[in-house]
Amino acid sequence: MDARQMKIKAAEAALSHVEDGMRLGIGTGSTAEEFVRLLAEKVAGGMKVEGVPTSERTARLCVELGVPLKSLDELPELDLTIDGADEVDGGLRLVKGGGGALLREKIVAAASARLIVIADESKMVEALGRFPLPIEINPFGRVATHVAIEKLAASLGLFGELTMRRSEDGIFTTDGGHYILDASFGRIPDAEALACGLNAIPGVVEHGLFINLATLAIIAGPAGVRVVTA
Ligand code: A5P
Repeated sequence: MDARQMKIKAAEAALSHVEDGMRLGIGTGSTAEEFVRLLAEKVAGGMKVEGVPTSERTARLCVELGVPLKSLDELPELDLTIDGADEVDGGLRLVKGGGGALLREKIVAAASARLIVIADESKMVEALGRFPLPIEINPFGRVATHVAIEKLAASLGLFGELTMRRSEDGIFTTDGGHYILDASFGRIPDAEALACGLNAIPGVVEHGLFINLATLAIIAGPAGVRVVTA
């Protein structure tokens, strides 16, 4: 089974949690896109759902495939969100934001009664930090914010490059008009402390540590699909 097939298996398993009439948060990334394709087939077959997309990219795919969309302002309380992740640990802590959608993903997840993460086995880690942690920052004062993050990290014994994310056109800009610093801290022993510290830096808009948000992870590997609960 290749990586794409594993993503499809995880997405298929997540689809069994979707019921007629649900208000759904719809994630971003290649795994979430497999879910959108399967969901679109169900919708074409008559299933009634309303989706709130976590990015412009996901919104475009949903429109293309006929998945009905609403804004989060129209549907501020959601039954279930299905989303991918860059890392998942055994306590269902996540690193997200590799696709640059972490802010909307976190807002949508927080508005959902449940968040189910879908991923292939490569995303499971013993401790978070192998994947560089995306930190979304306001463009104003970005150097001061960079310095503040470095000081916070050093106080927690974390060192490593903070790299401004770039696209072909220059600095990468999120759907919200912000920048992303990718922090290569390596192993993060105390993700809660780092999350708290980042939340306290004014120029940090959001970070990719998702703690106490996921209710279930569906992990697909060569031997099949397994479920991780906290
Ligand atoms: C998007 O911002 C991310 O949080 C994605 O959910 C994450 O990067 C997983 O993407 P893949 O499913 O493409 O690995």
